Amino acid sequence: MKNQTTLVIGHRGAAGEAPENTLVSFRLAIRQGADALELDIHESAEGELVVCHDETVNRTTNGSGRIADLSAEELKRLDAGSWFGPQFGSEQLPLLQEVFALVPPAVMINVEIKCPYSARLEQRLLELLRHYGRLDSVVVSSFDHKTLIKLKRKEPALRIGLLYSANVASHRQLAAITGEDVYSLHPQYKLIDADDVADAVRSGLQVYPFTINKENDLRQALAAGVSGIITDFPGRLRELMNADKA
Ligand code: G3P
Ligand code: MG
Repeated sequence: MKNQTTLVIGHRGAAGEAPENTLVSFRLAIRQGADALELDIHESAEGELVVCHDETVNRTTNGSGRIADLSAEELKRLDAGSWFGPQFGSEQLPLLQEVFALVPPAVMINVEIKCPYSARLEQRLLELLRHYGRLDSVVVSSFDHKTLIKLKRKEPALRIGLLYSANVASHRQLAAITGEDVYSLHPQYKLIDADDVADAVRSGLQVYPFTINKENDLRQALAAGVSGIITDFPGRLRELMNADKA
């Protein structure tokens, strides 16, 4: 079966069943059998790396304002779970180091950079990756490929993954034109077919399409031979893969 080695990658943890990008969401994804977790980061006012998808805290907390304008202390006071369900009221916005401390290295973490490049971001991210010994169990992705190239030049051991929503002529060549050793491709899933995937995988790239939730789409991606699937429902994907194996 082609899907034997496909990684189950929990999008923002298990965002379909718990408040996205919180520790409870990451724990749930791991319990459900995720091989990897995807999360998003921004910089706080003083440069701490905060796990949150949006530029502001408005949608996913009881506060308001831009993350870049708030201190880590102010951000940690917010309730990041009640918007999803009253039982999640004790959830906070995690700092990246809290996730590194929580998640065992056997579970890969896909850190997606949402904020613009800065020397401060580069320094803090590389410092945390080295401190927690996560260079070989993290892939750093972004739609901003220039940021990834800068980071890779600073730390050649860093695994970088290109996010994109464009239907490029050759997915493999997209990686080649960065001029750096790219670890993975993260295409919007509707843009790829089995030929694109096979061509990229043959050249040594991992292919992790996002964000696939419907059973038919999950099956199609598995049949196309992708290296991993980013999904809001890691438990469903794990069950589907187990059922196929049985
Ligand atoms: O990393 C895959 C996916 O998360 C990219 O889009 O907006 O969900 O962060 P978004
Ligand atoms: Mg993301």
